[in-house]
Amino acid sequence: MPRVLTGITPSGALHIGNYFGAMQPAIELQDGGNAFYFIADYHSLAGLTNAKERRAYTQGIALDWLACGLDPEKAIFWRQSDVPEVSELMWLIGSLTPTGLLERAHSYKDKLAKGIGPSFGIFAYPVLMAADILLFDTNVVPVGKDQKQHLEMTRDIAIKFNLTYGETFVVPEEYILEEVAVIPGLDGQKMSKSYGNTVEIFGDEKTLRKKIMNIVMDSRTRQEPKPDAGKNLAVQLMKFVAPAEVAADFEARLRAGGLGYSDLKKGLFEYYWDFFAPYRARCAELAANLDYVEKVLRDGAEKARAVGNKTMDRARLACGLR
Ligand code: ADP
Ligand code: TRP
Repeated sequence: MPRVLTGITPSGALHIGNYFGAMQPAIELQDGGNAFYFIADYHSLAGLTNAKERRAYTQGIALDWLACGLDPEKAIFWRQSDVPEVSELMWLIGSLTPTGLLERAHSYKDKLAKGIGPSFGIFAYPVLMAADILLFDTNVVPVGKDQKQHLEMTRDIAIKFNLTYGETFVVPEEYILEEVAVIPGLDGQKMSKSYGNTVEIFGDEKTLRKKIMNIVMDSRTRQEPKPDAGKNLAVQLMKFVAPAEVAADFEARLRAGGLGYSDLKKGLFEYYWDFFAPYRARCAELAANLDYVEKVLRDGAEKARAVGNKTMDRARLACGLR
């Protein structure tokens, strides 16, 4: 079974786009018995400067993942900063990384264009990400398309180190989740923390109901047939949270005319709320048992560290630090 690794940055509350696009597939992959998942708190330093928020988001992600089915018996789950060797490895590989490679990173250019940075953290972000991946002899990294270039850079960096100092790192394969649908947000763009258009996985019922009931629809009357029902945002979201036949029935009724938008949105809210109900119960249990959550992360870090230390021994020896 190839080793699977992925990280998620604690930069906000997780939403249903994260769930269907990243968490659900990752949780399925844990059954292979070689899954490494971590909370990328070092990465969050490059954007977020509020310590309290970082702590809260990190804890939130731990709760969300465990509540949604990450099983610490099957997958290794840890907080990045509990395995500090990753920052040492970042220096080893960063010393060989051409600045031209980093200057070409889309995410870096996008951030500069938005007026964020420029800081060393933002510039060196892909090197830290490469260190995350190489430290654990990773074979495949399931991520969204936006991370494709970072993976190519990881491969380039690994190959360069291997050519310079001899075979040291496993060169990871590309595994871009092309087939994962992009979940639209409440304004029809991709759902994203940065667009303020999210439906969180967990949160207050009243607030979330209001968010869904406030989705803007057009002004056609209830009775009017709507031949474009398949493009309706509430119908699209329904397909993720309701059984296929239920979603198809809502769509057919909207198409034929007679189903009002507010009934459609009420339906969407109910199915969304029920979909996550068992996870919500588990999340509440975990929130009342934070010592357990902390222990999972610490035990995970210990296991991850044992694997990472072997790679570090190899890397230090290869480049003559030992
Ligand atoms: P955000 O855009 O909200 O900041 P991240 O960039 O932190 O999300 O993404 C974390 C993971 O969730 C990535 O693997 C990404 O591909 C996935 N993801 C995020 N938003 C969506 C979406 N709307 N649809 C599908 N997958 C998504
Ligand atoms: N950069 C990734 C993101 O923003 C998060 C991440 C950090 C990551 N290190 C990683 C993903 C290593 C995969 C592997 O989504």
